[in-house]
Amino acid sequence: MTIVRVDLADRSYDVVIESGLLGRAGERLAPLSRRRPMAIVTDENIRPHLATLQASLAAHGVASEPIVLPPGESTKSWASLESLTDRLLELGVERGDHVIALGGGVIGDLVGFACAILKRGCGFVQVPTTLLAQVDSSVGGKTAINARAGKNLIGAFHQPNLVLIDPDVLDTLPARQLRAGYAEVVKYGLIDDFAFFEWCETNAPKLLAGDAAAREYAIAHSVAAKARIVAADERETSGTRALLNLGHTFGHALEAETGFSDRLLHGEGVAAGMALAFAFSAAQGIAPGQDAERVAAHLRAVGLPDSPAAAGIDADGETLVAHMLHDKKMDAGTLPFLLARGIGRTYLDKTVDLAAVATFLDAHRAT
Ligand code: GLY
Repeated sequence: MTIVRVDLADRSYDVVIESGLLGRAGERLAPLSRRRPMAIVTDENIRPHLATLQASLAAHGVASEPIVLPPGESTKSWASLESLTDRLLELGVERGDHVIALGGGVIGDLVGFACAILKRGCGFVQVPTTLLAQVDSSVGGKTAINARAGKNLIGAFHQPNLVLIDPDVLDTLPARQLRAGYAEVVKYGLIDDFAFFEWCETNAPKLLAGDAAAREYAIAHSVAAKARIVAADERETSGTRALLNLGHTFGHALEAETGFSDRLLHGEGVAAGMALAFAFSAAQGIAPGQDAERVAAHLRAVGLPDSPAAAGIDADGETLVAHMLHDKKMDAGTLPFLLARGIGRTYLDKTVDLAAVATFLDAHRAT
């Protein structure tokens, strides 16, 4: 078992990572329960894990009330937020209660936002069931729903009170989803941890094949990295937390080109985006070309896209840059980019010329 503390003064909390934890979650959750049943918000695909969690709560004398939503990105909507908050109010949820979010990033983001605004903020616990949610979205308190104008545009920072991660739930995750989540694991190596990138190069095949020790190590290492970054810059104001967006600006443009459909999962867009960030850094003479090639080779080796073409996208540079202009990271009319001086040496660059990005993307269109 690993416990990572996210150190945020009176908003601090633990992330507990342990194989089999879901079946023992009641022990950790019972102290947070009050006289009402605990609401568990989940989606249709998570029913087997819901049964495990409810049984564990019951074994500790805690009644629970499931709220089961349709799976998929369309659940991060105003309509779902309205019906979820109505249901939580019907259940009598108070500010001192804790709502459980059991699911992937969609459930975590929606429930987190509902809890940010319910009675001006109530407690919640993240129990993430995808690799992407375990290593990224369940930790750090970013919550959101989607707007007509784009993804995650309506939201709030609202930290959970506890995060419970059971790596065993990944046994039933489709291989494509697991690979997409892995992009966010290797991201931590690329940002500032060359030794972890080397660990990923050696161990990714084992991890993706379900090796329990490799999986738990990767999750714990990733969560510890994220906790450090969030503690340093909770609201993404100093530039430190922005490092977590490595690959996201290029990736966002590729995802937008698919209409944010399942043609390209978020993690796949991030993978191609990280390869592009390194290739662009190399093209600008900022990073060694061999580092960019090493990143791309690793992503290819694990079956992740390392270019727009590999992601199934054929669009010119101008089109992709136009998508980037709708990025929520736009700041006073400029778009900050995460570039790299090498593997493990990512930095925020606010001086990137979008015309140069478009020219670079045109040159990479066929590769
Ligand atoms: N997923 C990026 C962040 O939490 O800041």
